[in-house]
Amino acid sequence: MPALLGVPALIKVESLMWLFYFWRFLPLDIYLQGKPLSNRPFKDFRFGETPYFTGLEICRLARLRKGEKFYDLGCGRGKMVFAAALGFGAQAVGVDLLPTYIHFGERIANLTGCDAQFLLEDFTLVEVFEADVIYVAGSIFSQETWDELLLLIEQLQPGSRWVCVGRQAEHALLKAYDQREFLFSWGYEMVYFYEVLV
Ligand SMILES: C[S@@+](CC[C@H](N)C(=O)[O-])C[C@H]1O[C@@H](n2cnc3c(N)ncnc32)[C@H](O)[C@@H]1O
Repeated sequence: MPALLGVPALIKVESLMWLFYFWRFLPLDIYLQGKPLSNRPFKDFRFGETPYFTGLEICRLARLRKGEKFYDLGCGRGKMVFAAALGFGAQAVGVDLLPTYIHFGERIANLTGCDAQFLLEDFTLVEVFEADVIYVAGSIFSQETWDELLLLIEQLQPGSRWVCVGRQAEHALLKAYDQREFLFSWGYEMVYFYEVLV
């Protein structure tokens, strides 16, 4: 099988994504599935995605290792989840509130035999005690959502990493160790890397 960015199964994932999403008008799904969730700000459901080449480099800087538990909070179509699972051998988990993403994510994971899990859950309520790396592409999230997300840091073990896009995380338990600019589907954005302190 030809490899995409040096990761053999990624081309199969990408082909299946094209196949499944070709028949969907995503803005309509986002509106129909996100609008009724009146307890969450609708602007949180805006589409945006981490390309594979950016995702693989972010995982490397997050020091993601084989067998570690990786969470993408607000995973969308799951490109970052597949990059972590297939590129690094991580146990990758994607969390999103929109059923279309979770349904297709699960189908693609099953069809490719990829160790990735997709949870239809509100990411502010998810348990992340076992996480080694948390990824949040959160520049579009409302301040209220961002503040709720930061509460999850209290669950993390020392040495685990918190990686966030476009927004610095201010928390007594976090120590910044890197920051880089990366290309996303919406343009260039700064990514901040933190380690959880003992
Ligand atoms: C900008 S997209 C990020 C996509 C993905 N992380 C990536 O980098 O490719 C943000 C995602 O967060 C999801 N989202 C927003 N609020 C959420 C919530 N409370 N719980 C779970 N997912 C949520 C949206 O549905 C959307 O898919």
